[in-house]
Amino acid sequence: MAGPGTAPGATDQTGYDRVRYPSGVYAPSDPSRLAALARIHGLAAPDPATARVLEIAGGDGANVIAMAAALPRAQFASFDLAPSAVADGQAQAAAAGLTNVRVFVGDVIECAETLTGPFDYIIAHGLYAWVPEPVRVATMRLIGRLLSEHGVGFVSYNALPGCYLRMAVRAMLLHHVRDEADPARRLALARECLAGFSIARPGDRPALAGLRSVAEAMLNKTDAVLFHDELGESYAPQLLTDVVDAAAAQGLAYLNDAYPPMIRDGLPGLHVAEADVVALAQADDFAVSVFFHRTLLVRAGRNPARGVVAAHFAGLFATTVLRPEPTAEAPGRFVAGEQSIEIDDPRLAEILTTMGKVAPWRLPIDALANSDDHCNALVELCERDLVVFHAAQLPAVSAPGPYPRTSALMRAQLAQGLAVAHSLDLRVVGLDDPGVRHFIGLLDGTRDRAALDRDWMACAWAETISTTDALDRMARAGMLVA
Ligand SMILES: C[S@@+](CC[C@H](N)C(=O)[O-])C[C@H]1O[C@@H](n2cnc3c(N)ncnc32)[C@H](O)[C@@H]1O
Repeated sequence: MAGPGTAPGATDQTGYDRVRYPSGVYAPSDPSRLAALARIHGLAAPDPATARVLEIAGGDGANVIAMAAALPRAQFASFDLAPSAVADGQAQAAAAGLTNVRVFVGDVIECAETLTGPFDYIIAHGLYAWVPEPVRVATMRLIGRLLSEHGVGFVSYNALPGCYLRMAVRAMLLHHVRDEADPARRLALARECLAGFSIARPGDRPALAGLRSVAEAMLNKTDAVLFHDELGESYAPQLLTDVVDAAAAQGLAYLNDAYPPMIRDGLPGLHVAEADVVALAQADDFAVSVFFHRTLLVRAGRNPARGVVAAHFAGLFATTVLRPEPTAEAPGRFVAGEQSIEIDDPRLAEILTTMGKVAPWRLPIDALANSDDHCNALVELCERDLVVFHAAQLPAVSAPGPYPRTSALMRAQLAQGLAVAHSLDLRVVGLDDPGVRHFIGLLDGTRDRAALDRDWMACAWAETISTTDALDRMARAGMLVA
């Protein structure tokens, strides 16, 4: 992997340097999830464990840094225009001792022509609808030029028609702050405008009520997100058909959407002609006023299967947030947060129960892969965000080795005094319990069980849990690495 690996220059400040954007991990872009979605369509997908992954405009690279810590045999790169974000990412990768990730300053327009690849997974999250047209074209050009033969591209963006409402509120905000250049004052004026506008008035037309609720949601955003997402220079939400046309111009084709409620967009049925897939998905977007997409792209000509076929699920894994909570009237009742569903099929109920018990470990779904009905049921649960498909097991060890350790990234984040760390499956994990912090600090791979026992027993929290139980808990939570 080579590219314009410019050192961050202190003088080349962008808007994203002046007001830093809170980047972090983004589990929907996990190569294991993208590979699974490709395979559900009957397509081969590169093994995440050895994949080459690129994030375009990845800010400080937090997302690929967390992936690199989880998948040491894979190679990661992230570039961004903002030198200060890149410098932070480089420091984070160095602190964790990661040698399989490169974070560098780069402009999409330049990288589209000069970066070398190929890459198996290319991610562009939070960029496409917030940049001018030439950057959008370059984003697709870069993916089209560098995506490997079996690779998957991931482009997330604000979508039309849902974001027409947001555009209307944004127009009002831009008018309100038009004479103010100072970021803090722009934010203060924008908040004042949103606070006033979001109050309902007697006799509001329904359209106004909709706009007011959009304004209210904007008020709940942090300053950094409000500053860039709503007051930024460019905002161009996209129609799905326009995104797919832009991709097609670069030799790419639509696979599906990685936003769970839209998984049927790419799986409308085996009888549906390929030429109709995007048109149907676009019609659905209008019907439900879609406002967000995570469009997945593959090289043109790969012929994805457009219906659920059990054989395509063989070898995949799944996790669920569902837990069984049977009642006398509803023996097949499962719950997840506010959601509650009834599963009549005893085999499916059994599998979901086990899946929930082992989470965040992923359950092989081979047992269901001989039945289209069961696979369809899992896709339905995925649509409701209750099941997630993976191409690979959680990259952790299920039992502590002789010298137990957690990921180097987690330990580096702990050493930096951060209150949260990034897990191997791209979750944000709270580290506020001092006992947990101390135990994770001990799991650096230098202590055998005797040394670990000795050092744990010497601390103030030892009476709350034994070394064995604490290790067992860490292993079950998928937080130990080989
Ligand atoms: C909304 S932030 C998203 C950052 C990250 N992908 C995330 O989701 O947290 C948009 C990012 O795009 C970067 N960006 C904007 N235009 C760019 C360009 N032409 N080339 C490279 N990066 C760009 C900004 O510096 C910023 O970090």
